[in-house]
Amino acid sequence: MSKVIIMNHPLIQHKIGIMRRKTTSTKEFRDLVSEVAMLICYEATRELPLAEVEIETPLVKTIAHEIEGKKLCIVPILRAGLHMADGILNLIPNAKVGHIGLYRDEKTLEPVEYFCKLPADADEREIFVVDPMLATGGSADAAIALLKKRGITKIHFLCLIAAPEGVKRLTSAHPDVDVYIGALDERLNESGYILPGLGDAGDRIYGTK
Ligand code: PRP
Ligand code: URA
Repeated sequence: MSKVIIMNHPLIQHKIGIMRRKTTSTKEFRDLVSEVAMLICYEATRELPLAEVEIETPLVKTIAHEIEGKKLCIVPILRAGLHMADGILNLIPNAKVGHIGLYRDEKTLEPVEYFCKLPADADEREIFVVDPMLATGGSADAAIALLKKRGITKIHFLCLIAAPEGVKRLTSAHPDVDVYIGALDERLNESGYILPGLGDAGDRIYGTK
């Protein structure tokens, strides 16, 4: 069964509170997307395996730890996931990056795929799929199904804001995927937007509305 981790950290709640305000500027919103992504990533990488290595400090030899294998890959769902990926790359600069392009059909709310490019060795990597919004869950479900079709098995999903409807769909479709959520909101409205939410994440990041 999926682990669902809702971040209760004050810094994350504070920053998401600023993002929700309709007066927050595009620049500030964009910066906050990557900052909050970094903070969620800190928790999502808690169980990465470590290897012991012998090193020398200026004083003595000792055993230090490093992340084993360094086989990580971040997969943003376009467009809005891109800025989450940028934030996470500050913490894990050696990670590879794949891209999945999906948009929600405005009428059916079902995802439409338009792009997929993954590292050749993605199936050997631990994958972090990132998208700020988990609303109906259709986009996350489709992106993860696409990764699984390509033989990828170790998948985590990170988002800033989720609706209960999306969490239910994602964890039912992919019980093997752990889900990390900045804030769990109340519900969806009749147009599939999260309430109270923050509006359209892609439009707020890119200033397209
Ligand atoms: C938004 C968001 C998710 C999707 C979530 O993207 O970034 O990908 O909606 O909704 P769902 O859970 O109901 O599928 P959108 O389709 O607006 O595309 P964009 O990022 O290009 O703006
Ligand atoms: N996509 C968004 O960007 N915002 C929502 O509230 C729902 C889907």
